[in-house]
Amino acid sequence: MDILLPNSVDYVLLDEDKIEHRVCEMAAQISADYEGIRNEDFLLVGVLKGSFIFMADLSRRLMVPHRVDFIALSSYADKAEATGAVRMIMDTRADVAGRHVLIVEDILDTGYTLDYLYRIFGARQPASLRTAVLLSKPERRKITVPVDYLGFEIPDVWVVGYGLDFADRFRTLPYIAALKPHVYQK
Ligand code: XMP
Ligand code: MG
Repeated sequence: MDILLPNSVDYVLLDEDKIEHRVCEMAAQISADYEGIRNEDFLLVGVLKGSFIFMADLSRRLMVPHRVDFIALSSYADKAEATGAVRMIMDTRADVAGRHVLIVEDILDTGYTLDYLYRIFGARQPASLRTAVLLSKPERRKITVPVDYLGFEIPDVWVVGYGLDFADRFRTLPYIAALKPHVYQK
C-alpha cells in the first residue's frame, strides 16, 4: 500500500515493520545479556529528544527489570551540521554510581555525542556502561566510539521520523525516512 509522504520526505529508508523487528531483536539480545539483573541495578538512560520513541519501544520489549531515566543534550540547532561541541541541558535524576547503565541513543553520526556520554558516565563509577544505538552513519564518523547494540547502518543522508527530527519537525512519523537533500543542504 502506498503511503502519503510529507513533501520534504524523499523516500522511506526503514518502514515500521523493519524497525519493530530489529528493536525486538535488540531487546532480546539485551535481555539475554542482563539476565538475572535486579530492577535497582539496571538503568536505561535515553538521550533526549531523538531517542524517546526508540527508548519507549526498546524498554517495553525488555524481559529484564530496569529503570528508565533521561538526559538532554544540545543538538545541532536547526542545521544538519556537527560542531563537535556537546552541551548538557538536563542531567539524569537517578544516581549512576554502582548501577549497570545502558545509554539509549537514536543515531551515531560523527561520534562526538557518544564520546561525550562515555566520558560523563564513565566518570560516575557505574558498575558497567554500554550503549544501544538505533542508527549509525559509518561514513560520517570523525572519532571511533564503541557501540554494544546497534540497530542499522545507514547511508549519509539526513533521516527523520521515529523520534528523529529536522528543525523539530517529522519526529512522530512512524517510519524512518530520508529528507530531500535541498531541505537540509542550506
Ligand atoms: P554525533 O555527530 O555527535 O551526532 O555522532 C549524534 C547526534 O546528531 C544528530 N543527528 C541526526 N538527527 N537525523 C536526525 O534527526 C539525522 O540524520 C542525524 N544525524 C545526526 C542526533 O541528534 C544525534 O544524537
Ligand atoms: Mg540525539
